[in-house]
Amino acid sequence: MSTTAPFRATRSGPSQTPLDVEALRRDFPILARKVHGKPLVYLDNAATTQKPTAVIEAPADMYRNAYGNIHRGVHELSVAATDAYEAAREKARAFLNAAEAREIVFVRGTTEGINLVAQTFGRQRVGEGDEVVITALEHHSNIVPWQLLCEEKKAHLRVIPIDRTGEVKVDELERLLTPRTRIVSVAHVSNALGTLVPVRRIAEIAHSRGIPVLIDGAQAVPRLAVDVRAIGADFYTFSSHKMYGSTGVGILYGRAELLEEMPPYQGGGDMISSVTFEKTTWNVLPYKFEAGTPNIAGAIGFAAAIDYLTGVGVENVTAHEEELLGYATRELSAIPGLNVIGTAREKIGVLSFTLDGIHPHDVGTVLDQEGIAIRTGHHCAQPVMEFFGIPATARASLALYNTRGEIDALTEGIRKVLRMFR
Ligand SMILES: Cc1ncc(COP(=O)(O)O)c(C=O)c1O
Repeated sequence: MSTTAPFRATRSGPSQTPLDVEALRRDFPILARKVHGKPLVYLDNAATTQKPTAVIEAPADMYRNAYGNIHRGVHELSVAATDAYEAAREKARAFLNAAEAREIVFVRGTTEGINLVAQTFGRQRVGEGDEVVITALEHHSNIVPWQLLCEEKKAHLRVIPIDRTGEVKVDELERLLTPRTRIVSVAHVSNALGTLVPVRRIAEIAHSRGIPVLIDGAQAVPRLAVDVRAIGADFYTFSSHKMYGSTGVGILYGRAELLEEMPPYQGGGDMISSVTFEKTTWNVLPYKFEAGTPNIAGAIGFAAAIDYLTGVGVENVTAHEEELLGYATRELSAIPGLNVIGTAREKIGVLSFTLDGIHPHDVGTVLDQEGIAIRTGHHCAQPVMEFFGIPATARASLALYNTRGEIDALTEGIRKVLRMFR
């Protein structure tokens, strides 16, 4: 289960220290509640993570004390809100090790980040007969925006295959890239399988042909220290809500050189330099891409999440989740009739499985009665399910607050499912 150097493009950080998980759990008020009379075991973190008190309080504190619209007013409250919003941008820059704050665009989340690139960079650069390359393990949000673009432009979507373990066949990329390839767009970590994709290698291969790369970091950012420059990402996007932060906000990182060339995404306030009925000119980066009043409070909760995660140490979260995933895989694999779906050598955070003869929804429903929250379904990755010839999986996904005791509860819950259905 270990992640090794060529796969992990991370900052060289402090050495790992074991997490004091019991202490950290007290930062998350919801973890103290019961579900159906049982202690909550929250293992649906790939869908969204729970929030620490610091993240819950930060937007409320702003609303109480320093709230106004940003970038518009000269009055004290507007200035304070603007400063806080721009401080959040700077935190995101440092978090990703981006070169400049103007390369950090606030978006609604990963989905909007990818759509923004498809609708601006894509519409500008992709023409009839051109090609867009993705992998076979993408979330729908890294498939459908490109399909929409390809349909509009009469371009073609090409897919790097995966093998039976759920690893991307990177060697096939060389073959798939052609002089017509305009962009390669890949997930950093698969939400359905947990596969850690060798994004740095993919970027090297694409760049050797002059092709830019977008990386969907939705599942990577909560569990790996991401350095966009070490990876060589041209675009990198992720969601705050999956990394302990507020909902409705995320980041699109783009290299300034590319962002400069791209047309705006949406029109409205704040994204303009001047407007007349004859001609409108665009604001400078990153504001050219931020039309209208943004999710100000969300950005403040997001900044609090960056502080929180950085305070815990992302490297420590990586080590904790690796250890826990190894334990969970060993425990669950010992259950007769349980099949782990996704056995890549480099894997993190996600454990998908099926039980012979039992539908995943039944597994999820019984576990819910035990207070255990997992996800069941196709995980917005229907092509992955099709590849494995299954309609759905049950998925347990980890966060920094999960414990071995919770994995034991999951194992016991699954044994109960077996007793009920067999
Ligand atoms: C790999 C991956 N990409 C994209 C998304 C979409 O994220 P959001 O719904 O926050 O835009 C998800 C959400 O599950 C994901 O796991």
